[in-house]
Formats: sequence, C-alpha cells, structure tokens
Amino acid sequence: MVEKVTFRVFRGEPDADGDPFGKMVDYEVELDEGMVVLDVIHRIQAEHAPDLSCRWNCKAGKCGSCSAEVNGKARLMCMTRMEDILEETPEKEPVLVKPMQAFPLTKDLVTDTSWAYKTDKRIEPINGPEEPDWEFHQEEADRLQEFRSCIECMLCVNTCHVLREHQMFDEFAGPRFFVRLAGLEMHPLDTESRIPEIKDDFGIGYCNITRCCTEVCPAGIQITDNAIIPLKERVVTDYYDPLVNPIKAALNITSGVVSGVLSPFTDEFAPSGKDPGNLEKAQNAVEGERARAEEARKMDAQRADRARKRFRSKL
Ligand code: SF4
Ligand code: SF4
Ligand code: FES
Repeated sequence: MVEKVTFRVFRGEPDADGDPFGKMVDYEVELDEGMVVLDVIHRIQAEHAPDLSCRWNCKAGKCGSCSAEVNGKARLMCMTRMEDILEETPEKEPVLVKPMQAFPLTKDLVTDTSWAYKTDKRIEPINGPEEPDWEFHQEEADRLQEFRSCIECMLCVNTCHVLREHQMFDEFAGPRFFVRLAGLEMHPLDTESRIPEIKDDFGIGYCNITRCCTEVCPAGIQITDNAIIPLKERVVTDYYDPLVNPIKAALNITSGVVSGVLSPFTDEFAPSGKDPGNLEKAQNAVEGERARAEEARKMDAQRADRARKRFRSKL
C-alpha cells in the first residue's frame, strides 16, 4: 500500500499593514522512499498548488535558502528526512509547515531576510596589515574554518528570542553575525578591533547564552560557546578588567556611582564635606537607574506587543 501524508502548510501574504494574513491549508500527497520535506512541498506544487511559494536552490544543505518551521522547529526543508518527521508527528496528525516567524512574510513559506544584508554591511570588513606575516598556527586557521561553514540560513536568528520575541533587530546583531564577527576578530591577519561596536552597536550584552541558536544550526557551528562567549570575554577584558585598564574598568564597573573616589578625572561624585559617601548623588543615580529600568520594561512590553501583532496569523 502506498503511504500517504498530510501536510498543513501556511498560505498567505502580508496585509496592508505588513502583518501576515493567511491560513493553514491541508494537502495530502503520496510518499516515496527517501523523500525529504522539500520533496513533499515540490509534490504539492506539482499536484495541488502550483502557486505555493517556497525558496530553495541547492537541495544539498549548502545555500541556506529553504529555511522554514516544520512541526514548530526551525530547519532546512531539504535536509529534513520524512522518515524522521513521521516518527515525531503523532499518528493521524498533519505535518505543520510554516515560514520563519521572526522575519516579515513575503508569501507562503518565503520571508524577507533583507535585514541580514543590511546588518552585514555594518560590519567592518577584514583589514590586513600592509605587509602580512603569512606564518600563523594551524589552530588559528582551524578555528576560523568553523565560522566559515555558515550557510546564512538564518535559522539561528529565527530562533533567538531577542529577535523573535523582542524584535530587537536594530539593537542586536544576532547569532549569525556574532559568528561573522568572531571570524573577523579571531583572524590571524586582521588588525581591526570591532569590540566597541560589538558591545554597543551590536548589543552582545542582550544575549543571555540560552544556546537555542546553537541547537538549530544545520552547519553544526558551536555559535554560543565558540563565537559569542569568546566575544563577550573580549568585551569584558577591554571594558571591565582592572588588570588591563584599571581606570576604565573602575569607571565602568561602578557606573558612575562611586567613580569620583576612584577616578582622578571627574569631581562629579567626589566626597564633599559632611557627605563623604556623597549619598545624595548616589541616591539620585539609583533613582535614575530605576527610571531607566522602568522605561526599559515599558519598551520591552511594547516590543512584545508589536511582535505578537506582527506574527499573529489572521485565520
Ligand atoms: S545564545 Fe544568545 S544569540 Fe543564541 S539564541 Fe540565546 S540569546 Fe540568542
Ligand atoms: S550560524 Fe548556523 S544557523 Fe546561523 S545562519 Fe549560519 S549556518 Fe545558519
Ligand atoms: S535548498 Fe539549499 S539549503 Fe536547502
């Protein structure tokens, strides 16, 4: 008997406000041995819905085009075997296929990932010395090889809660670009330092090392352990390590509250007569910090609201 499978696929386009508008549609197709999810989508296009949009190129896990969410997990459709999908799908239940939810919808399973190209352009490219020293350790070359195996599928970005839930696309470069930044920062011939940008413009502090990005990476890159954590360490070394830069570290660690005691460059928080601990200014600073935290909470709630609105499917 021929085995059949039901795929429940998102069909839709953005509405006038750019929000996804569509519905999940069921298609039943026959399965052949060895099929992957992308084969089933192609069969649906051939037999039921020629206008179903999906993006793909290589069908070999190399171009990073066919990213989607299958049964709620971000994966490459061309590298996801149907036998594995059938094993994980409850009996008589359809296989769910949706576009990546973190990015704006273009049509059906296709999303607009142009944010990635814009972010890439913000990164300072490699800058080698005039006369490079071509001798470097094999370990240094091997370390970069892992980062260079990225196929730019954006599955990690789609999974990262900072981007998916909180929509911080302006403030946070995301796991894919921390991989790229790590590849540049650890390059044995590169002379540039991108640490200030990694700290401030690319917002590495927002990453709380949940490792969700690493779990979905089809290239097997240890994004968190080998790219993000070493970059965080470099930020800490440059900005907060008292052995490397005592004054800068003191100023940063104390966030200005007691920096007058430690820094010869400002009298903003200097001890003053009856108020040697300068309590009033410290209290003002704490109040200011509370107000900033409150403001951050409000912005967070607004972002979450925007994210919900943006990705709610109007069924
Ligand atoms: S480890 Fe960091 S970058 Fe990766 S998913 Fe978690 S928060 Fe995002
Ligand atoms: S790091 Fe991995 S998951 Fe992220 S874009 Fe590159 S290959 Fe895809
Ligand atoms: S089609 Fe190229 S990675 Fe899937």
